[in-house]
Amino acid sequence: MTKKSKTNNKSTLQSLKQLLIPIKISIGGFILADIFYTLYQDKFDKYYFSKVIEKGTQPKVNISSLQYISQPEIVEHFKRIFKPYKNQSLYHVICGERGTGKTTLIKTALKEDGQGVIYINIPTNLNKLDETFNKALKNFKILPSGSLLKQIAQKILYFKTNSKTVIKWEDNLEAFKNGAKRYKMKHGNPPVIIYDNVDRLVPKHAEVLNILQEDAKDNADDMKYIAVFVSNKTSALKRMKARTNAWTRVSKPVVEINNLSKEESINYLVNKRGIKTMKEGKIDITEAEKLYELVGGCIMDLEAVADEFLNLKQSSEEIKQQKFIEIDNEFNIAKLHKNQPNHEAGKHIIKTLNSNGMLDYLTYSKLFNNPEEANKVLETNIFAYNPIKNIITFNSRAIECYIRENAGIFI
Ligand SMILES: *[C@@H]1O[C@H](CO)[C@@H](O)[C@H](O)[C@H]1NC(C)=O
Ligand SMILES: *[C@@H]1O[C@H](CO)[C@@H](O)[C@H](O)[C@H]1NC(C)=O
Ligand SMILES: *[C@@H]1O[C@H](CO)[C@@H](O)[C@H](O)[C@H]1NC(C)=O
Ligand SMILES: *[C@@H]1O[C@H](CO)[C@@H](O)[C@H](O)[C@H]1NC(C)=O
Repeated sequence: MTKKSKTNNKSTLQSLKQLLIPIKISIGGFILADIFYTLYQDKFDKYYFSKVIEKGTQPKVNISSLQYISQPEIVEHFKRIFKPYKNQSLYHVICGERGTGKTTLIKTALKEDGQGVIYINIPTNLNKLDETFNKALKNFKILPSGSLLKQIAQKILYFKTNSKTVIKWEDNLEAFKNGAKRYKMKHGNPPVIIYDNVDRLVPKHAEVLNILQEDAKDNADDMKYIAVFVSNKTSALKRMKARTNAWTRVSKPVVEINNLSKEESINYLVNKRGIKTMKEGKIDITEAEKLYELVGGCIMDLEAVADEFLNLKQSSEEIKQQKFIEIDNEFNIAKLHKNQPNHEAGKHIIKTLNSNGMLDYLTYSKLFNNPEEANKVLETNIFAYNPIKNIITFNSRAIECYIRENAGIFI
């Protein structure tokens, strides 16, 4: 069956290609071809989208940053996730805080083997959601004035035109499923679709997340395709867990990407980035240690300070002073400095965070004159709010550093 329809499609393609060549094709020919195309559209789409899936996603990644990847075992784990087995009936959730390098790790895994995987990065501007799906699935169409032949030509030749009609994301998902069927028939295992940054759907487009999740569950049940949701541990994860029925089909435990440990961070700075000097015949890693003290194990922050250190030739002390100026400004915006209205509330919060590491939101909120002010302070980069646990923490290691050095004011 597979083989037969394949040869059928091949000859279909060939005859269609031939039809495209003569420019002065008769009107009758067009009508015939359109009827012909309509008849074959379904088969053609299955063929086309399965080809797109087969090719998979080849993400653009900064090659030079790839050599610094410090978690090869995670990349290997992702590669296994992206190659589901034949009768797999579980989909995946990957979560991790901001800056833990989820996207880079995923892209690295895809770079090595992206076959059978479609990668969708939910855009910050959700008006572009349809377009994002179009691009990922190479789903181009000119409607309605363009001939159907033109559509075929576009698909065959992967034309990119400016006058393309944007196809809705729901229809793209259907197209993907169509291709998935054929893909599985041919390769045995189901294809994978990755949704990165699903947090961007919450709260305004939470309905889209619901649909993606329900569909992921149904299709895992039927072993048709395997979805991978990537979230930063905030409200999207909470919502997905709350759909208890769909949550039963998530592969557990959920994959968590965490900050690097101190050892891994120092290893990254010293051995991958070469931040070390020779002192009296010994390797000196003081600067690397100071950089780690400043930003902690968040790989994104480590990468940034390493770049500043190496490219801008700044010392760890200079980098720290610059960071402190930015933080100082944040404290000013949050009105937490001495003689500013939120100073006392701030001191109380900081004391609690220093001793307990966290503070529940209700207690936090009550320290301010009104809830609006409490939320305004949260909008600065000083404290972080975790909606799942409903708690407040410091937003970064650098903030903790800053407070330690300004203990006289805040503690
Ligand atoms: C790629 O990464 C290197 C090292 O991190 C950086 O210097 C360079 O600017 C990056 N290039 C792009 C295009 O992001
Ligand atoms: C999946 O397939 C393998 C062999 O292909 C079989 O051993 C296993 O029992 C199957 N699992 C389920 C849940 O059907
Ligand atoms: C999680 O991601 C969303 C969307 O990208 C973002 O608005 C939010 O600030 C992120 N939360 C954290 C804690 O990084
Ligand atoms: C990870 O590092 C970031 C940045 O320094 C910090 O804000 C966060 O609290 C750390 N997370 C954990 C679980 O330690």
